Amino acid sequence: MSQITCIGAGYVGGPTMAMLALHCPEHNFTVVDINEERIQRWSSDNLPIYEPGLLEVVQQARGRNLFFSNDIPTAIQQADIIFVAVNTPTKAFGEGAGKAADLQYWEKTARDILTHARQPEVIVVEKSTLPVRTAEAMSRILSSGSSHSQFSVVSNPEFLAEGTAIPDLQEPDRVLVGGEENVFGRRAARTIADLYGHWIVKDRILLTNVWSSELSKLVANAMLAQRISSINSISALCERTQANIGEISRAIGMDRRIGPHFLQASIGFGGSCFRKDILHLSYLCEYYGLPEVADYWASVVRINEFQTDRFFKNILKQQFNTLAGKKITLFGFAFKPDTGDTRDSPAISLCRKLLSEHAQVRVHDPRAREETEHDLASMEGDIAFVEDPYEAAYGAHAVALVTQWQQYRDLDYGHILENMMRPAYLFDGRNHLDHQYLFNLGYNVFPLGSAPLTHL
Ligand code: NAD
Ligand code: UGA
Repeated sequence: MSQITCIGAGYVGGPTMAMLALHCPEHNFTVVDINEERIQRWSSDNLPIYEPGLLEVVQQARGRNLFFSNDIPTAIQQADIIFVAVNTPTKAFGEGAGKAADLQYWEKTARDILTHARQPEVIVVEKSTLPVRTAEAMSRILSSGSSHSQFSVVSNPEFLAEGTAIPDLQEPDRVLVGGEENVFGRRAARTIADLYGHWIVKDRILLTNVWSSELSKLVANAMLAQRISSINSISALCERTQANIGEISRAIGMDRRIGPHFLQASIGFGGSCFRKDILHLSYLCEYYGLPEVADYWASVVRINEFQTDRFFKNILKQQFNTLAGKKITLFGFAFKPDTGDTRDSPAISLCRKLLSEHAQVRVHDPRAREETEHDLASMEGDIAFVEDPYEAAYGAHAVALVTQWQQYRDLDYGHILENMMRPAYLFDGRNHLDHQYLFNLGYNVFPLGSAPLTHL
């Protein structure tokens, strides 16, 4: 039996440890965090994150071999294996500001581990997404003091997506474990691989060197985001040429070499990772003297910003270039459906742009109320969250769909239209709704990447 500790009880630490605890009942898992409220909520049925199926998994293991605690020193002292799943945001200050990874939280955990570890051999697992060669820095810190423990650093990046975290963890495409190239390192990597081997077939568990593992994670996110920016860039061309982006996604996705996933045109990708990980990758390329490569990846983020801006400018243009005092309603604020997470959601920059034109902005989201209200509090202007979508759209000049929650397909758009200003506009930032039906009801419909349907 091993004592396994995870530092960081967020979107990654909580769900991954719950799944490991479920499948490895002989080991004890303790998830710790500096945030007391988060830990309290993990210990209750009001979990700090919304993720379908998560509560059921937590309930099965909690109190048996899954524990949540704020006592970080004790959890480190007892641990044979320490997963580190703290946040690694983009640096907001100093050298590399706006691009490089801010590793202060990461380094703090390395120093905590060095101070408190007591077991003779301790495996430290990088679960957070980190720049390539971070394990080297971790190893240096861990070997810098007179610790009781011998450490080995293993890279085991996480590939779950929010909203589908439970199926992603239950049946991952692959699990990546990168170990140091020495005897202890190889044994440490094997130990981590064996944990996953409790429920994942062997050929989906890849053992690599540490650097490949670290870099694969950044590249996986960059490639996924690149597909979205590629299709979004083509959606702009479609709007000029009467081609239809949905038809194009289907046509190219049927080529098995391209595949159908991640070809859904959108107002832009959001979430806490895509933007930050591409910027980190781009910064690394710059750091290693590859400005052309850095610029190539940075362009994925530029296209993403262009897409959100294009969406906004279209609203402005269709509203006769004046939004002052006009009510614009956003359906959805989370960065994708089935999550309450709003981090880096395109809704945030859209709201700011609308407010800069003095629009009156009303926002609805079925699950992300708490997070949305937190984001709106930092914005200046006439903006508010409204709990009922019909009330949110009452008297609106336009509705903009930002997040493709299923609920928005099921609304009574006839009823919404009755109470909207005329001409009534609907901007579908996800191509989620039935455009012909809405047009027949009387809306002027603006999809992404295809011709608008208007009565004007
Ligand atoms: P998060 O912000 O939800 O959680 C991180 C937690 O770490 C926070 O609760 C924070 O309080 C805690 N923390 C920070 N410093 C600490 C310290 N010194 N001691 C103890 N706790 C500390 O972040 P997240 O979304 O879970 O992401 C974590 C990492 O995983 C990031 O590197 C991210 O890129 C990566 N990742 C995230 C996802 C995702 O879907 N969110 C998926 C794959 C990988
Ligand atoms: C993404 C990756 O999919 C995960 O593998 C990775 O582990 C994770 O980032 C991470 O490192 O944090 P996530 O951001 O949770 O997961 O969600 P995605 O499903 O990838 O969606 C990201 C954004 O892209 C969302 O805003 C989504 O709406 C958008 N998107 C996705 C599109 O605009 N079009 C698409 O075709 C697909």
